[in-house]
Amino acid sequence: MSVMELADRLIVVTGASSGLGRALAVELAEREGAHLLICARREDRLHMLQADILARTGARVQVLRTDLSRATERRALLDTLAQDETVFGLINNAGMTRYGPMVFADIDEFHAVMELNLTAVVELSLGFVEVLKRRGEGFLLNVTSEAAFVPTPYQGFYSTTKHGVQAFTDALRMEYRRSPFFVGTFVPGGIRTDMITSSGLDRRIPRDSRVNMTAEKAAAACVRGLKRRRALTVPGMLNRINHALTRLLPREWVLRAAERLYRPPAGGNGSG
Ligand SMILES: NC(=O)c1ccc[n+]([C@@H]2O[C@H](COP(=O)([O-])OP(=O)(O)OC[C@H]3O[C@@H](n4cnc5c(N)ncnc54)[C@H](OP(=O)(O)O)[C@@H]3O)[C@@H](O)[C@H]2O)c1
Repeated sequence: MSVMELADRLIVVTGASSGLGRALAVELAEREGAHLLICARREDRLHMLQADILARTGARVQVLRTDLSRATERRALLDTLAQDETVFGLINNAGMTRYGPMVFADIDEFHAVMELNLTAVVELSLGFVEVLKRRGEGFLLNVTSEAAFVPTPYQGFYSTTKHGVQAFTDALRMEYRRSPFFVGTFVPGGIRTDMITSSGLDRRIPRDSRVNMTAEKAAAACVRGLKRRRALTVPGMLNRINHALTRLLPREWVLRAAERLYRPPAGGNGSG
C-alpha cells in the first residue's frame, strides 16, 4: 500500500497546547505540509503555536478552544468536523495522568481521568468514523501508551483508560479493516512533557531522564508510522525492546518490575 500523503490535508490535533500534541502539530505542518485545526483549553498557547507555525510555513492553522472533559464541547467539536468537508484526519492526543496509590485518590480524580482519556476518545472516534465513512478516505489515530499493555501501579486510573482505548481502537480497526480509511494507535513510552511534572511522576522519574524521549522525536516517529499505516507504532528502539519483552516475560514478573519502577519515593505516598 502506498505511503499516506499528508501535504495540504487538514488534520485535527487535540491537546496541541503542549508536549506531544504541540510537537505533532509542528511536525505535520513543517515537515509534511499539512494544514491544522489545533485544540486544547489554553487558547493563548494555541495562538502562540499558530503564530509560530505561520511564521515558518504556508500552513493554514485554525485554533479551537475546547474542554474535552465536557460532553457538550465534544459534540461541538464533532459538529465542526462533520461540517468541514476538508478534514482528513483526527489525532486524539489530549490526555492526563494521576500519580500515586489509587486508594489515596478522590473518586472525582478517577472520573476526570476516565472522562478525558477514555470517554472523550471513544465519543470522538465513533463520531469521526462516521465522517471518514462518508468521505471514503482519511485517518483516525489514537494516542495510547505502554501503560496500555502493562498495568501500571501508582498510575492505575491512567493505565485503565489506556488499556481501554487500545482495546477499543483495535476492535474498531478490525471492524473497518476493509475500509479505505485508516485507524491506528501511537504507543509511546516516556516522553519529556508537562504530564510528567504536573502529575508529580518526576519525583520518581525525572522529566529529562534518558528513558524519556523528546516530544519532537516521538512526534516524528508517530507521523512516520501513520504515513505507513502502521496499526501500532512504538517509537524508539528502547521502547520497542521493552514492548516485546513485556509480552514475552511472565505477567507477574512484568507487574512486579512496574511496581518497583513507579513506587513513590520513601516518605511520600505519591498522592501529590
Ligand atoms: N509524557 C509521557 O510520558 C507519555 C507517555 C505515553 C503516552 N503519553 C500520552 O501522550 C498524550 C499527550 O500527553 P503529553 O505527555 O504531551 O502531556 P501534556 O504536555 O500534559 O499535554 C496534554 C495535552 O492535553 C490537553 N488537555 C488536558 N486536559 C484537557 C481537556 N480537558 N480538554 C482538552 N484538552 C485537554 C492539554 O491542554 P490544555 O491543558 O491547554 O487543555 C495538553 O495540550 C497523552 O494522551 C498521554 O497519555 C504521554
